[in-house]
Amino acid sequence: MAERGSFGRLGFILAAVGSAIGLGNIWKFPYITYANDGGSFVLVYLIAILLIGAPIMFAELAIGRRTQLSAVPAFLTLGKGGPGGRVWGLVGGVGVAAGFVLLSYYAVIAGWTVYYFGRCLAWSLRGYDLEGPELGQLFGSFLADGSSQVTFQLIFMALTVGTVLLGVKQGIERVTRTLMPVLFLIMVIMVISSFWSPGFPEAIRFLFTPTEITPDGLLEAVGHSFFTLSLGMGAMITYGSYVSKQQSLPRSGLLICLLDTVIALMACVIMFSIIFSVPEAERATTFSKSATILFTTLPRMFYELPFGSILAPLFYLLVSFAALTSTISLLEVAVAYVIDSFGWARRKAAVVVGLGVAALGVPAALSLGASQALSSWAPLGPHAAGVFGVFDYTVSNWFLPVGGLLTAIFAGWVLKPEIFRSELEEGHGPFRLFLLTRLLLRFVAPVAILWILWAVIGGRSFA
Ligand code: PHE
Repeated sequence: MAERGSFGRLGFILAAVGSAIGLGNIWKFPYITYANDGGSFVLVYLIAILLIGAPIMFAELAIGRRTQLSAVPAFLTLGKGGPGGRVWGLVGGVGVAAGFVLLSYYAVIAGWTVYYFGRCLAWSLRGYDLEGPELGQLFGSFLADGSSQVTFQLIFMALTVGTVLLGVKQGIERVTRTLMPVLFLIMVIMVISSFWSPGFPEAIRFLFTPTEITPDGLLEAVGHSFFTLSLGMGAMITYGSYVSKQQSLPRSGLLICLLDTVIALMACVIMFSIIFSVPEAERATTFSKSATILFTTLPRMFYELPFGSILAPLFYLLVSFAALTSTISLLEVAVAYVIDSFGWARRKAAVVVGLGVAALGVPAALSLGASQALSSWAPLGPHAAGVFGVFDYTVSNWFLPVGGLLTAIFAGWVLKPEIFRSELEEGHGPFRLFLLTRLLLRFVAPVAILWILWAVIGGRSFA
């Protein structure tokens, strides 16, 4: 078998935090929070992270480190002899498939961030053209331009493959160690600069004052906690398999949850301070509660801020860094599986899997207006239109929650408690929250997730 890599202590934390922090934090969380009227949505999300996300995070890290294997063989090894036996390997398989599909369209959005970085750089150097095309139109024609979509998607895939093929230490750890501190720094600078924005107090009030919350909002908050923590598809199992036995999994797991949450809240503060600086009457027309706010309204707002021409490109650079440290973890799930299970060399695995994902991403990239047929393809009904929409709907509403549900059931009911406990205590010492963790995995997480799936079957989409 090809040699497996391993992470250094800080390297692991940064890589896992890098996986968790991504477009989910900076693009998706602010817009779904805005669409759900802040306050209570944020509170439910925080509770979901604590009661469902954190225990599943512990479970995934423990499954990975115990077996030192990637998702499929890890479930196969630990499931052997227990209820379900080898069928549990399928859970890993669902994860690998989820990562494959998720990466194919995630790289398309990640590509946009690179494009907007370039755009803002040009605006900053040449001056923002207020008379130029309106940003919504600019974005629309960018989406409809197939060659740009594919080019930026492929650029992003190339960066991802290039990192993963260099290996766990030389590639993943080195890149995340370099990018994550820069990301934190840019984030802090931007939050500090938002203190002076007239919208800042209102942004804080919006985020932390309880409001009405709809059942859909509840579901969306719980579903997003999986997406944002990279759970339910084997990413944390795979990264866990590279962690040394001296490192504490509960402490690392909590730190990952904490930093992910802090960054998501910081992203909201930054964005909402800008949004709430616009007078209320104008806001309703300027900011549709849409997914594309990051690309259609924000760039121009930056240029109205002090130091905007520095902040704008810096911000999109930050978003692309965040996306890259997530895409490498998505690719690694499938690459590690091929290495572990078929004995392929890492380079070959990274290139072949990467090409497969990139190929699948092409129809997704062309389904945003470039190709009429691909854009209107809706086999699952009108709530998921176009290849991109179908992929996102399937992964967010099905793969991740089902993966998370099965992982919780596996860790709570199948995995021997002695094994689970000893893995969590290895490198940590007595883990006082073990019983609570197990209780959450056995009852709370499955019930909550089944409830989400029930709602999805009932026709709600929270993609
Ligand atoms: N957590 C990442 C984000 O918030 C997305 C992701 C999901 C990455 C699953 C890896 C695995 O953007």
